[in-house]
Amino acid sequence: MKINKLLFTTTLTALALTACSPKGTNSDSEIENKVEALLDKMTLEEKLGQMNQLSPWDPNELANKVRNGEIGSILNYMNPEEVNKIQKIAMEESRLGIPLLVSRDVIHGYKTIFPIPLGQAATFNPQIVENGARVAAIEASADGIRWTFAPMIDISRDPRWGRIAESCGEDPYLTSVMGVAMIKGFQGDSLNSPTSMAACAKHFVAYGASEGGKDYNSTFIPERVLRNVYLPPFKAAVDAGCATFMTSFNDNDGVPSTANKFVLKDILRDEWKYDGMVVTDWASAAEMINHGFCADGKEAAEKSVNAGVDMDMVSETFIKNLKQSLAENKVSIESIDDAVRNILRLKYRMGLFENPYIVTPQNVKYAEEHLKIAKEAVEQSVILLKNDTQTLPLTNKIRTVAVVGPMADAPYEQMGTWVFDGEKDHTQTPLKAIREMYGDQVNVIFEPALGYSRDKNLNGIAKAVNAARHADVVLAFVGEEAILSGEAHSLANLNLQGAQSQLIQALSTTGKPLVTIVMAGRQLTIASEVEASDAVLYAFHPGTMGGPAIADILFGKVNPSAKTPVTFPRMTGQVPIYYAHNSTGRPANPKEMLIDEIPVEAGQTSVGCRSFYLDAGASPLYPFGYGLSYTTFEYSNLKLTSDKLAINGEISVTVDLKNTGKYDGTEVVQLYIQDKVGSVTRPVKELKAFQRVELKAGESKNVSFSLPVSELAFWGYNMTYNVEPGDFKLWVGTNSAEGLSADFTVSAL
Ligand code: BGC
Repeated sequence: MKINKLLFTTTLTALALTACSPKGTNSDSEIENKVEALLDKMTLEEKLGQMNQLSPWDPNELANKVRNGEIGSILNYMNPEEVNKIQKIAMEESRLGIPLLVSRDVIHGYKTIFPIPLGQAATFNPQIVENGARVAAIEASADGIRWTFAPMIDISRDPRWGRIAESCGEDPYLTSVMGVAMIKGFQGDSLNSPTSMAACAKHFVAYGASEGGKDYNSTFIPERVLRNVYLPPFKAAVDAGCATFMTSFNDNDGVPSTANKFVLKDILRDEWKYDGMVVTDWASAAEMINHGFCADGKEAAEKSVNAGVDMDMVSETFIKNLKQSLAENKVSIESIDDAVRNILRLKYRMGLFENPYIVTPQNVKYAEEHLKIAKEAVEQSVILLKNDTQTLPLTNKIRTVAVVGPMADAPYEQMGTWVFDGEKDHTQTPLKAIREMYGDQVNVIFEPALGYSRDKNLNGIAKAVNAARHADVVLAFVGEEAILSGEAHSLANLNLQGAQSQLIQALSTTGKPLVTIVMAGRQLTIASEVEASDAVLYAFHPGTMGGPAIADILFGKVNPSAKTPVTFPRMTGQVPIYYAHNSTGRPANPKEMLIDEIPVEAGQTSVGCRSFYLDAGASPLYPFGYGLSYTTFEYSNLKLTSDKLAINGEISVTVDLKNTGKYDGTEVVQLYIQDKVGSVTRPVKELKAFQRVELKAGESKNVSFSLPVSELAFWGYNMTYNVEPGDFKLWVGTNSAEGLSADFTVSAL
């Protein structure tokens, strides 16, 4: 299915955009004037009030604080009447009538839940991601939410870390593209549209590198890696006009992010010229006391504000202490004014002074068009990892399907992490969808075998095996419950939980074609389940419309096109594992001798002296960018317009792509580059571009890429950002481990 773009726009317009057009549209200079005029009128207490964000508890106490100008923003307040009521108090009863910013974590949908961000990244389709964020903004603004804490653009190379689910995966380029798409979708055409939500680039920065994948842990990312790997998505967010930034919970090399002046001021404000607003993470200012970095709340407030933070999320350290700090000259009034400027500027940009109240109608929630868009997102996010002897799509010879496994009919679990507002009653599971959409074509036997993903009770497995024996194909839905990924939900073992592996092994002994569908918040270690299955689909947590999209993929109405946004390890001990690692002095040899092949009393060097694991080798289970289709694609004829380029030139590449199979399909064509010699060691490959190319069965297309040579720049030995002239290699192919290649050189001017 393709989005009918016209219909999408028209429906969204009918539902919300025309509900109220913004009353005033302020130019930048008008806004700056208004900010200064308002700032002039504010008392110190009112300024500190603006810098204070709270998650309301007692409505009366909240109303009083708002009336007194003690709050600039609230979070987790979603009853439309209540939101309008509290906003009215801010507008009409507080001395200066400054509107509140109403916020909530709308991460992958509000009511209509989209695939988790990691699943969305697997689409390699920024338009799909933008559409999802737009839908989320329309639905959330119906409850008055005008600021979301997304996108999460932490580079995530460790699936033990539960928050990988919220990320766009391991790659700086893919994450940048997807992060920008989310920002565009949330913020819409203009921040001051009543259906726009201010986006928030988080977590600034390096949080994804938390040691050992444990949440809230320390990171040790040196400046060069920070700049080459972790910062690019945030720079892209600034360039895309992302309205806000959030600090992170980690301390990097001993400095908690909420007080990291180097990243918050030197880089974000001075280098990148960011004029948006920076909020702490939840109580991360006060948590600097736990870090042993601040003695008390007062020092925490001072260190945060002096580092360049504007708003304190819930810890109240700013409002309680900064007056005293100012009196003691521990912070300056200029720093406080700068913070308040950033907050007021955002409120003016969002048109909140003119349009503080909710105008988006309630009936946009779960609107039919939103469900369609969500279904399309799932269709493009489900990765076909294996398809031996064309087990999929299911043909019309299939009369009976056995649907088994704890994720087949788990409406709550398939929504995934960070879902506070989507309701399971609106979620369509694979079981429901197969019955409703294909029930007249196949007979469905349902035997879940296990009650939930962690269930260790083996009693149901025999029944599932029996169901399999009476079926023509087995569809086994396994994975993780929603609670097993997300914030504070890290794992030390990435195998399937409970007795799910035993279930898959038992089903495989029936000799019936076995299709395993995994729904999870991260890439799991599923080597033995892949081995036991004839076909494998990886669906991540697909959200509200998971069922119908997966059903259409199984039955061939939709041909999978997604690609892995992360490297899949064979076993947990390989983590962190990512394709763009630096070149080592002793790269692994694909023919390494593995542990079972090593002779007894082997000589010390008989296995070679290379970078790999004796028990896992060096290669992953699936490389980054991997994903099959029901059809096959052939790449040929890679051509570079020129293999000698100047530093200000452009790399122009073409390749022929042919659909050599029986089905129409879409291939994500990927372009990788290696800088062969650098002033510092460089990654073995880096994704620089990709395109989704649709081809009818038998059709060929000439696919071209143009890439400015400037895209090859990186932070080198002298910590400057340059393209270093020399030899490069380029690949165009179907994933990060395969592709046609060509060499080129770049010369200085
Ligand atoms: C998370 C943030 C989130 C915030 C507000 C924190 O615990 O780290 O990502 O936006 O809570 O809910």
